[in-house]
Amino acid sequence: MPLSVVILAAGQGTRMKSARPKVLHELAGKPLLQHVVDSSRLLEPEQIIVVVGHGAEQVQAEMQGQGLNFVDQHQQLGTGHALQQCLDHINTGNTVLVLFGDVPLIRAETLAAMIEQTGDAAVCILSFEPQDSFGYGRILRQQNGVQAIVEQKDASPEQQAIGECFSGIMMIRGDRLQQLVTALDNDNAQKEFYLTDVVGIAVGNGDAVSAVICADPNEVSGVNNQAQLAEVEALYRAHQAQALMEYGAKLYDPARIDIRGEVKAGKDVVIDVNCLFEGEVILGDNVRIGAGCVIRNTSIDAGSEILPMTWIDEAVIGRNVSIGPFARIRPGTELCDEARIGNFVETKKAQIGNGSKVNHLSYIGDTEMGSGVNIGAGTITCNYDGVNKSKTIIEDGVFIGSDTQLVAPVRVERNATVGAGSTITKNVPADKLAISRAKQVTISNWSKPVKKEKHKE
Ligand code: UD1
Ligand code: CA
Repeated sequence: MPLSVVILAAGQGTRMKSARPKVLHELAGKPLLQHVVDSSRLLEPEQIIVVVGHGAEQVQAEMQGQGLNFVDQHQQLGTGHALQQCLDHINTGNTVLVLFGDVPLIRAETLAAMIEQTGDAAVCILSFEPQDSFGYGRILRQQNGVQAIVEQKDASPEQQAIGECFSGIMMIRGDRLQQLVTALDNDNAQKEFYLTDVVGIAVGNGDAVSAVICADPNEVSGVNNQAQLAEVEALYRAHQAQALMEYGAKLYDPARIDIRGEVKAGKDVVIDVNCLFEGEVILGDNVRIGAGCVIRNTSIDAGSEILPMTWIDEAVIGRNVSIGPFARIRPGTELCDEARIGNFVETKKAQIGNGSKVNHLSYIGDTEMGSGVNIGAGTITCNYDGVNKSKTIIEDGVFIGSDTQLVAPVRVERNATVGAGSTITKNVPADKLAISRAKQVTISNWSKPVKKEKHKE
């Protein structure tokens, strides 16, 4: 049966103590709600409806362009009320899967397995046994199955002792939706229309209700406050570290790696402690990453080594390249095979050819550099005149002496040499030596200054 997904995301998230709507708080660099959307999309639903309310404009703006159907819950009167707002938008010929925007770690495989097991029950809930059940709805069972869900605030002490809780994930058969959801009332401790009451109502009607227990309770952890957000971040991180080790990567300490996005790794990758990976990072075979590196949206080809304390952002790194320690590789950098970038070097929009070396204390920006180039310590491409950016072109085999400024636009042709300490403002012809510093002279009648006697009063 085709699927309609409804994601509830209208709540304020008071317990976050934040001006930002809760579902936009980031987990691994991505809004909580985005995680839920991404997982549900893998089920190929016919429609994804997102219920927005608190901060609706902001939520819609951040989630635009993804083909989501937004439904407004003007006043947030509870999770059941949120679903009521969707009745006119849901295709009742479908199976309806309700997800919460604050339960971000749910995997598509778990949802698919639940759908598989639902059979023709009118309602199926995903339950779990959290380590700490505080705040979750408790599942009341009878001999012949689930009887109802009771919210923490409405539960008796005996009910509060029940370990099986509601994950927030529920399937409802489309043809039963209208009747079950309109029967909800707000006669409870919080004066809200609870989605969870659907279970008791369905049982009362004689509808078949089933429950599937989620094997990994972590997967359905809810985020209501900053501490729980940090917990799901830690769970995500541990999961990604595990995945990386399954690729065959050696992590010196899987507890000391941060992955906010996805890292793919070839064979025999080695990662030292305290590295942060963001967005999409691809590491080829035998890549080694030293301690304390930050790497974002970058691919690093086989055999390359990143030495400690290096920051790489949106770059393409070839094979057997060496970078760092203490290098800053900015967006638009492309390092070809065997290139070397040493300490305190910054690159930006720079193409560095095969085997070229920028080993110490340099800034290389808006530059095209050929192969076999050697850039001396302290070289700067002056790419900005205060108004415009210009390009520096350094052809194959060039040698640039230390402490040189290349004032762009400028071109240094094949195999040319620039003497140390030069300020180059004109193109340098191939195979020639250019030098712009003043000639060294020796002053013969010069003597060292002598220290003056202190004048006594
Ligand atoms: C809810 C469940 C609880 C379950 C827990 C799982 C109810 C009544 N309780 O409690 O049984 O164990 O989740 O994490 O359903 N929302 C709206 N509109 C509203 C209220 C909430 O869209 O009027 C959205 C929120 O944005 C959030 C989700 O629904 O994404 C859950 O709301 P929340 O207030 O966090 O419910 P819990 O108290 O966690
Ligand atoms: Ca919640």
